[in-house]
Amino acid sequence: MKNTGAHFILLLLTVFFSSCANKSDEYIDPRGTDYAGSESCIQCHQATYQMALKSAHYKATAPGTRENILGDFDSAKHIFIYDADTKLVMEKRNDSLYQVLYKNGKEVEAHRFDIIFGIKHAQTAAYWDSNYPYELPISYYKSINNWATSPGFSEKEASFSRKIGKECFACHSSNIGSRFITTNSDSINFLSMDVEDFMNEKTLVYGIDCERCHGPAKKHVNYHLKFPNVKTAYAMVLYDTLKRQQKLDACALCHSGNDKLKVKSRFEFRPGDNLLDYFRGVPKSNDTTNYDVHGNQFLLLSQSKCFTKSEAIDCMTCHNPHENAAKSMASYSKICMSCHSIVKHNSATTKSISDNLLKNNCIECHMPKQPSKSIKFQQSGHQTISNYSLRTHRIATYPIRTK
Ligand code: HEC
Ligand code: HEC
Ligand code: HEC
Ligand code: HEC
Ligand code: HEC
Ligand code: HEC
Ligand code: HEC
Repeated sequence: MKNTGAHFILLLLTVFFSSCANKSDEYIDPRGTDYAGSESCIQCHQATYQMALKSAHYKATAPGTRENILGDFDSAKHIFIYDADTKLVMEKRNDSLYQVLYKNGKEVEAHRFDIIFGIKHAQTAAYWDSNYPYELPISYYKSINNWATSPGFSEKEASFSRKIGKECFACHSSNIGSRFITTNSDSINFLSMDVEDFMNEKTLVYGIDCERCHGPAKKHVNYHLKFPNVKTAYAMVLYDTLKRQQKLDACALCHSGNDKLKVKSRFEFRPGDNLLDYFRGVPKSNDTTNYDVHGNQFLLLSQSKCFTKSEAIDCMTCHNPHENAAKSMASYSKICMSCHSIVKHNSATTKSISDNLLKNNCIECHMPKQPSKSIKFQQSGHQTISNYSLRTHRIATYPIRTK
């Protein structure tokens, strides 16, 4: 009996993939016909579009082409040495880029940079094999301007067998088509079945695009094309009209960690939705030591007095979601001072720090960089583990660091 089940699933998959193959040249949006695609926004929102195109959100995933990869393929830095006999080399071969493993000078395995994740601080890559993406063992880190082990990978041996789950795409892309398959179909107990997402590479919508944050916009586009004189937005959720928690939820969807039980896929989220409908138990703990500076800006911010004692603050107070967060520390400090026009630092603080620094760099002292607990990496030939540091969003008083 169990074989019949397996065959049935195989049959379904064959039908699914052959129906895709039939129109292989025609682009199929996995999100369906309610979506217009980001390119369509340019006609009417050119400035926003041009800005968003260069943002880290837009590049949160990208195809593995030379121009999208930050790391080096040419200089002496493109080799990771595991031991005297084993090394991994970043190589250009024709139009593609590969991580190639050599043992005693002989090539053992080569895998292509198919998808790139990340742009601001680090970049990791994955290759596709039979409808699953697998993470490459070496990643690029901006802080060292070099390659080092991907988070959680060994510095002693290369592994190419870590699957990338659909969850990575749920936070780093706009969509990907997938099918659930059960890998041990003889199991009667549904809960103990191994369920895996079988992903269709061709349906990946790279990056976090306009409609990922604004919702499906086909109706909006068609209407405004038809009635160019209408100047008020049709069929579009306006962030301005949302409550504070709804605005926060639209960011917290991907910026509040990944440790909650999922009820609905992140891909289904639309602006205005309540995150509590997507996850069971959004943690509200006061345990500040548990929230990592990586990926959890919302929960850290919500522990700040600036957040609990002011109704006004949300992510957009300091960030324009269409723009890179590359403002100077002085311009962030101006935002702090819009609420803290007079700060009474005590004499110990004012004595040790120049007035200029106190005024222009609130961030350095009140949102210091801290090492992530979940992300660490190791460089080729280094015994020590390197930290991955980000600014904490828990705005508070920290001991002053002296250089
Ligand atoms: C044919 C013209 C047209 C196209 C194409 C278009 N829009 Fe609009 N959009 C408008 C007009 C007109 C408004 C209302 C005036 C304004 O706010 O700029 C608007 C408003 C908006 C707003 C609300 C602005 C606010 O006040 O909060 C958002 C968000 C938006 N559009 C997103 C999109 C997205 C995303 C796309 C692409 C999928 C898109 N638009 C494509 C015409 C267009
Ligand atoms: C679909 C998931 C998702 C949503 C929704 C989302 N983000 Fe992000 N955000 C990311 C990812 C992934 C990155 C890392 C991008 C990279 O560096 O490749 C990121 C990076 C950022 C950065 C740092 C990069 C930079 O320099 O700009 C800021 C700031 C940010 N997001 C703010 C926001 C705000 C504000 C919102 C809500 C309006 C939001 N995000 C909504 C996933 C998301
Ligand atoms: C819950 C949402 C979420 C999930 C799931 C997730 N990420 Fe991220 N990731 C983020 C956010 C947000 C950032 C950027 C800000 C930060 O580091 O806090 C980020 C940053 C990164 C970066 C560094 C980008 C940069 O320059 O800041 C890489 C690389 C990355 N993620 C890869 C992955 C991979 C691979 C997976 C799956 C194994 C994954 N992420 C799963 C949300 C997520
Ligand atoms: C990371 C989420 C995110 C992405 C991606 C995103 N937006 Fe927005 N957008 C927002 C939020 C949040 C606001 C409200 C900003 C505010 O309240 O300050 C907004 C506001 C707008 C507005 C009205 C006000 C303004 O700033 O112009 C328009 C128009 C708009 N977005 C269009 C787009 C288009 C077009 C794209 C793609 C090129 C896009 N957005 C991508 C989150 C996003
Ligand atoms: C929207 C207004 C607002 C903004 C913006 C804001 N804060 Fe606050 N902040 C507050 C409020 C309100 C309090 C609580 C004051 C109190 O308890 O009397 C506070 C408290 C603080 C405290 C005391 C924290 C503690 O634990 O005792 C510090 C330090 C602080 N803010 C620094 C900053 C810095 C630095 C920035 C910019 C990165 C900033 N704030 C941005 C409103 C704001
Ligand atoms: C009071 C100002 C402030 C608020 C509010 C704020 N941020 Fe930030 N954020 C910053 C500063 C400052 C940085 C560091 C920018 C840099 O180093 O270039 C930053 C950086 C980031 C980064 C990149 C990580 C890094 O260290 O480079 C992400 C992601 C991010 N913010 C997301 C969010 C999200 C999501 C929210 C809302 C939950 C939020 N921020 C609210 C000030 C703020
Ligand atoms: C050199 C580090 C440093 C810089 C720069 C700095 N602060 Fe502080 N801040 C501290 C320290 C330490 C304390 C606690 C001792 C004290 O009050 O002086 C503090 C206390 C505070 C408090 C709480 C005071 C109270 O009465 O509760 C606020 C609010 C604050 N800072 C805001 C700011 C703002 C806004 C800026 C930028 C304009 C800024 N700080 C720049 C180190 C700094």
